[in-house]
Amino acid sequence: MGKLLNRLSHFLTQILFSIITPPLLMPMVAKLSITRLFISFCFGRLYGNRYQDIIDSFHGRYGLAMAEGLAEAKKMISDKTPIILDCGSGTGFVTKQATKQFPNATFISFDILHGMVMQARNNCNDVTTDVFHVQADTFAIPLTDQSVDLLLAQNTIPWFAEFSRVRRPGGMIVYVDTSAGWIAELAKRLVVKYKLFETVMGEQVDLGFYILAR
Ligand SMILES: C[S@@+](CC[C@H](N)C(=O)[O-])C[C@H]1O[C@@H](n2cnc3c(N)ncnc32)[C@H](O)[C@@H]1O
Repeated sequence: MGKLLNRLSHFLTQILFSIITPPLLMPMVAKLSITRLFISFCFGRLYGNRYQDIIDSFHGRYGLAMAEGLAEAKKMISDKTPIILDCGSGTGFVTKQATKQFPNATFISFDILHGMVMQARNNCNDVTTDVFHVQADTFAIPLTDQSVDLLLAQNTIPWFAEFSRVRRPGGMIVYVDTSAGWIAELAKRLVVKYKLFETVMGEQVDLGFYILAR
């Protein structure tokens, strides 16, 4: 019975996330106060304390698209000690995954919700790489222009204008969604439309997709 409920909850979450992802890619929707209220309701109340259970319900598939995005980014990063930002870090899953690929980097892992920052900090306490966990908003990242080598954003609001402001010349963004593989092409086209990047590449991976913009 528990297993069945788990599967049902996973299924419903995938549907919910694949419905909310495409509009969130559009700046005018992402910026609305109602969107922000909805997100903070979802992760402050509805999902916040059981987001790790949602990750577990993917049975190892949650990190597949980001793993490919990180592998591509690694080929292009020449700095041996890059500054890497995990935007909307949630439980810290992506931060932890990325420290394995970039053990000598300095990570800044941020989330708008204090509760999620605490979860990320706890989950990363066995990580030996430098990771700073902070509470911050994707719409106003508290970093100077051109200060970051790689920005990671998975299943969160991808505010590309702000990402582009803080990334160094040649810096990269890896945006991942784990629920909506079917919009991979559309998402790529939308990112190209911003005209903020020289190259935009991306692939559908398993249930979702990654986009690498440079
Ligand atoms: C679905 S979770 C994904 C967490 C993590 N990236 C992962 O893949 O496991 C989305 C996270 O984005 C955060 N978030 C939503 N809007 C944000 C914003 N404007 N600034 C920073 N974090 C935000 C939420 O609080 C939540 O923790």
